[in-house]
Amino acid sequence: TLGEKCPMGDKVNDKVVSCTDPNTKFPCPQPTPAPATAVDFKPESTVKRVRRPVHLLTPEEQEKYKEAVRKMRALPSSNPLSFTAQAAIHQAYCDKHYIYDPSSSKSNKPTTFDVHNSWLFPPWHRMYIYFYEKALGDLIGDDTFALPYWSWDTPAGMVVPAIFKDNSDDNPLHDGNRNPDHLDTLVHLDQGDTSELIPFDATSQDPEYKAGVFRNLCVVYQQQVRLGTDAPAFLGSKFCTQSTGRQGQGTLERMAHTAMHVWAGRSGPPPGSSCSAATGGFLNHDGEFSCQNDMGNLGSAGRDPLFYSHHSNVDRMWHLWSTVLGNKGFDDDTWLDASFDFYDNYKNPQLVRIKFRDVLETRNLGYTYDAESEKDLPWMKCQL
Ligand code: C2O
Repeated sequence: TLGEKCPMGDKVNDKVVSCTDPNTKFPCPQPTPAPATAVDFKPESTVKRVRRPVHLLTPEEQEKYKEAVRKMRALPSSNPLSFTAQAAIHQAYCDKHYIYDPSSSKSNKPTTFDVHNSWLFPPWHRMYIYFYEKALGDLIGDDTFALPYWSWDTPAGMVVPAIFKDNSDDNPLHDGNRNPDHLDTLVHLDQGDTSELIPFDATSQDPEYKAGVFRNLCVVYQQQVRLGTDAPAFLGSKFCTQSTGRQGQGTLERMAHTAMHVWAGRSGPPPGSSCSAATGGFLNHDGEFSCQNDMGNLGSAGRDPLFYSHHSNVDRMWHLWSTVLGNKGFDDDTWLDASFDFYDNYKNPQLVRIKFRDVLETRNLGYTYDAESEKDLPWMKCQL
């Protein structure tokens, strides 16, 4: 449920949205069988999980991460905590599969629902990867397992992390739908940065390389500090209708986050061919093939395991904004009381109803981020 009225008198709030997708073309994460009730979320009592940068994991930690994702991929897709179902949740929530109560709509076309482009973005994604992280920990019997983050905001993390690229023996973190030209080059955190691609090299002293790193740091500084000055600017604007488009995005969503989706995703069909199923196309909600998969397209993004480590860092950016940088979220019950249902416990899937107010502090969710990474935030040095 989403809360009450919007300032412009929109009546789309306070509705339960449900996935009504009747055809099998698009996977709705429909429970089988439908569960009767959701239980209320209970805050975790201790902080057991410390999320760390992917590129600093020990070999043993890397193995754990792989083992967990391997096991999640092996669950049958009918299990809501299988990798397939997890990816379908993201697709359903951003690809027009969920609609408001159709009877509430004046026109024949029911309003569709999206967790992007508004203040829903940060808390919804925090919840989503929290349950993903918990399921991975359950699968390997380790309740201290923490979802490693892709640290694109530090010079040593400005490349697609090696663990995701290794395809030697069926790496469960590998995904074929990535942009091959971007795998080993310094990322461009500014989506409009058209400068030449440079091979990633954390120790490079080349002035051009260093300028690229600096541009990246400045993007993060802009989104976290200079432009992300208050809750609407950083987290996104109030959710009223699905049609606000990108205007409703806060800097957390609009800047480095989006740039890294587009950066990592495969950008198009092979030269000379058109986009179709045969060339790796993905059928989007308009029934057309898109070849911008997986990370490059919201509907398919959750199919790439990199997505979850990317969002772990997006979540960390929110965490830093509200802790180290001392900012306040919304003080609005519509936002605080908005709730979503997620599955917990892969052995005996149970729906859990969780509110935004439950997730404002990561400690309530039993995780935090490594303190080491907070000591020196390299992007704070970019004062433009
Ligand atoms: Cu739901 Cu990075 O997007």
